[in-house]
Amino acid sequence: MVKALIVYGTRYGAAESTAKDIADVLQSEGFQVKVANVKEERIRDISDYQLVIVGSGIQIHKWTGEAEKFLKDFQKELRAKKLALFVCCGSAQPLTEKEDEKTKAPQKAKRKYLEEKAAKYGLKPVALGLFGGVYNFNKMPWWSRKVMQPLKKQLESAGIKETKPGIYDTRDLQAIRNWTKQLAHQ
Ligand SMILES: Cc1cc2nc3c(=O)[nH]c(=O)nc-3n(C[C@H](O)[C@H](O)[C@H](O)COP(=O)(O)O)c2cc1C
Repeated sequence: MVKALIVYGTRYGAAESTAKDIADVLQSEGFQVKVANVKEERIRDISDYQLVIVGSGIQIHKWTGEAEKFLKDFQKELRAKKLALFVCCGSAQPLTEKEDEKTKAPQKAKRKYLEEKAAKYGLKPVALGLFGGVYNFNKMPWWSRKVMQPLKKQLESAGIKETKPGIYDTRDLQAIRNWTKQLAHQ
C-alpha cells in the first residue's frame, strides 16, 4: 500500500478542508494517508512516505510560516519523493470573466505561490494545485475586514452563497477531486 503524507498550513480553513478532501480521494484510491496540520503537529520524519503533499493558504502573498518551514526543513528529503504542492487562495478563482481577463490572477498566482516556491527549495513537484479560498469574515483580522467588505457583494453576485453566516467558500470540490485522482494515477 502506498503511504501518503498530507501536510498543510491554514489560517481560515480552506487548506484544511482541501487536505481532507484530497485524503478522502487518495484513500478511495487505496492509499494509506496521514494528514497533519503543521502548526499543531510536528513532523520529524518523512522516510515512511512515498508521496508527500504540502499545501498552504495564502495571505498577503505568503504561505503560512509553518508550511513554508516544512518545505525548508525537509527540502533534501522531498527531492527524493513524489511531491505535490497546493495552495488555496483568492486569486485562483476570479469572480468575473472581465476580472480574469484583466488580471490573469490565476496564472500569476500559480507562478508566484507554487512554481517559485518549488524553485526556491530546489523541488520538482509532480503536480501543482491552485485551488480557491474561503473568506471567513468572522475570523479576518480587524485591519482587513473593512477593506474586504465590498468583496461580500462581489461574492454574492458571482453566485457564491454563505456556507455559514459570514463564511464564503469559493473552492471547486470537483476540481480538487480531479486533481487528486490524476495525482493518484501518476
Ligand atoms: C487578509 C487577507 C489577505 C489575503 N491575501 C491574499 C493574497 O495575497 N492573494 C490571494 O490570492 N488571496 C488572498 N487572500 C484570500 C485567501 O487566500 C483565502 O482566504 C484562503 O482561503 C486562505 O487560505 P486558508 O483558508 O487555508 O487560510 C487573502 C485573504 C485575507 C483575509
